[in-house]
Amino acid sequence: MSDITRSSLPEHVAIIMDGNGRWAKQRGLPRIMGHRRGVEAVRTTVRAAGECGLKYLTLFAFSSENWRRPESEVSDLLGLLKAFIRRDLADLHKENVRVRIIGDREGLKEDIRNLLLEAEQMTRDNTALTLIIAFNYGSRDEIARAAASLARDVAEGKLDASSITPDAITARLDTNGIPDPDLIIRTSGEERLSNFLLWQAAYSEFIFIPDYWPDFSRDTFFVAIDQYMARDRRFGGLSGQVALAGV
Ligand code: IPE
Ligand code: IPE
Ligand code: MG
Repeated sequence: MSDITRSSLPEHVAIIMDGNGRWAKQRGLPRIMGHRRGVEAVRTTVRAAGECGLKYLTLFAFSSENWRRPESEVSDLLGLLKAFIRRDLADLHKENVRVRIIGDREGLKEDIRNLLLEAEQMTRDNTALTLIIAFNYGSRDEIARAAASLARDVAEGKLDASSITPDAITARLDTNGIPDPDLIIRTSGEERLSNFLLWQAAYSEFIFIPDYWPDFSRDTFFVAIDQYMARDRRFGGLSGQVALAGV
């Protein structure tokens, strides 16, 4: 890879992993089988991200609206998250991956909350890829929690309302300290955000892939990255001006 190509690699890729249920249905299998195969695709993708030197990978694993699904499916999904952390944490740590979780922890049971905390604490000083798992995550919920936290500080006299700038809001989001996603990928052919990173996606590039998530492969990932690198990002300015403007 030439230096020029490397410089336009995305720093942060976020993925809406969709289509597990349809993958299973197509094969006459129960939905849980699609979710299980989805975990394999997660492992493949984390490896591929590490391979190309990506700094941040965010995976949308469970939305704040996914509680609307039948109880048995919700419990399967919670079980898969727990199993993933228990089985894969040591390997991720060995690979120098830092794990971060975004989403509302208050809405989760204590055993899961403890596991998530353990994953973050064990890997906090790792310096390769940062893997961000969005669990019980909804962007509107995240923004509302940030607004409530700012409002509390204003009410207590710690903050002046005039200091509530876009940067101040960014700093109260779950993604504090993480750069905005350069590229958002959604699988399964659906072309919507479904309440994912609404604030952070202001200038993200989007790539929609027809494959269901369990079929997402290393090759598909690299093709998406290549497509991203051919895009012209302007951030409201003109072509080629962005670096000069320091955005
Ligand atoms: C993505 O697959 C996983 C989650 C949303 C948890 P889906 O379960 O949404 O699969 P489809 O969209 O029904 O096929
Ligand atoms: C988005 O997928 C959430 C995750 C991938 C975790 P959904 O399948 O829940 O989204 P909708 O309902 O089709 O918009
Ligand atoms: Mg879906």
